[in-house]
Parts: sequence; C-alpha cells; structure tokens
Amino acid sequence: MNRRDFIKLSGSGLLTLFLSGCGLSALTNKPETTANANDHIGENKMKIVVITGSPHKAGTSALLADKFIEGATSAGHEVFRFNSAFEDIHPCQGCDHCGMNGPCIQNDAIEQTLMPKLIGADLIVLITPLYYYGMSAQIKTVVDRFYSRTGSLHRKKSILMATAYNSADWTMEALVHHYETLVRYMEWQDIGKVLAIGCGSRPIIERTEFPNQAYQIGYNL
Ligand SMILES: Cc1cc2nc3c(=O)[nH]c(=O)nc-3n(C[C@H](O)[C@H](O)[C@H](O)COP(=O)(O)O)c2cc1C
Repeated sequence: MNRRDFIKLSGSGLLTLFLSGCGLSALTNKPETTANANDHIGENKMKIVVITGSPHKAGTSALLADKFIEGATSAGHEVFRFNSAFEDIHPCQGCDHCGMNGPCIQNDAIEQTLMPKLIGADLIVLITPLYYYGMSAQIKTVVDRFYSRTGSLHRKKSILMATAYNSADWTMEALVHHYETLVRYMEWQDIGKVLAIGCGSRPIIERTEFPNQAYQIGYNL
C-alpha cells in the first residue's frame, strides 16, 4: 500500500448500533439476555481484540472492558486483551520503513504481541477514557501503529467504548467523529458504541447501566 492509497477514503455501508445517553438506551435489535440464555454459544465464534487506553487498572473504562469481555467469552468468543498503558510500546516514528505493509522497525509489544492478533481478528474493540475530548495518548499510540499494517487491518468489525467526567450531550462528539473517520478509512464495520458520559469515577459508573450495556454488546455479538 502506498501513500496515495493511504489518503483514499473508502466508504461502505456501516451499521451503527449507537449505545449512548444516560445509560438507558441500549439500541440493539437483539433481545435482552440472561446468564442462562447462552444457547448461541459456538455459533459465529469471533476472534476479538480489546485494546484499552487507561492507566487505571480498576478505573471506569477498565470496568467496561471487563464487562464486555465477560459477555463475549460467555457467548463463546475468543478475546485477546491489550492494555496499552501497561505495555512497553512506542509511538510511530514515521520512518515509513514498513511501507504500510510491515514489519515495523520497533520490536515492541505492539509489533511482537498485538499485531499478529490484530491481523487475525474479526473484531477490534477500542476502550478509552476521554482525554481532552479525544482518545488517550496510550491508545492513540497503538492506533497510529496500525500504519504498519493498514491493508491487513481493513475490513474488520469494530466497537468504541469510552468514559468521561462531563455529561453534556456534546462530550463525546469529537471522539466519535474521529472514530467514525477511522472506521471509514479502515473499511471497518462499526457494530456498536458505549459512550459513558458523566462517569468520572468507578463508584459513579457502577451505578449506571453502562457496564451492563458493555456486557450485553459482548454477549449479543
Ligand atoms: C488527562 C485527563 C484528561 C481528561 N479529559 C477529559 C475531557 O476532556 N472530558 C471529560 O469529560 N473528562 C476528561 N477526563 C476525565 C476522565 O475521562 C474520566 O475521569 C474517566 O472516567 C477516566 O477513565 P479511567 O478511570 O478509565 O481512567 C480527563 C482525565 C484526565 C486524567
């Protein structure tokens, strides 16, 4: 893939299940499930990569990740979790040694551990705290490194989950716009979002419906 291809934006019919608001609106056509309603286990088993972006091991976005993984594994999917804040990773140097088709000159956890999982994944889940109205630097470091395998990472399914202190209706706008542009460029299919506004701390998010939304979206894949 060359630079000309990199700037080409290609659209595709994107299905968006937009889970947002005050924790009350799980907009999915699939029925509510219970812990016993696991009869679809084994069907359409997916390989999922969850990438988290928070430096808080027991923080708000980590809870969404935990719940999503609980739901997805209960439904029989295979999940690999990469906690970007706790890995030895480095930002893209822009050297273009990879030619957007790998390998990357940086022999770190992204290149060694994450990238093979990403290339084989059916679904990529980005889970970040909102930092100055965008994704955290930790997870953005990973996203920038997609550059080394851009073509190989096309046509995946994707999900965005984020937590934020603010609760204004525009809180997640810039993050979502960025994510949707990424989805369009990567020719991904967005299959859901959990946007946990008004969730600046763990005790607060634990009193909302957002963790259950994360579970349900994983369980109902
Ligand atoms: C560096 C930094 C930047 C932040 N920027 C925003 C922001 O722009 N908007 C917002 O609503 N909350 C912001 N917050 C609050 C966090 O998004 C919020 O506390 C979130 O729940 C933290 O998630 P975590 O527990 O998973 O780390 C910021 C927090 C930090 C530390």
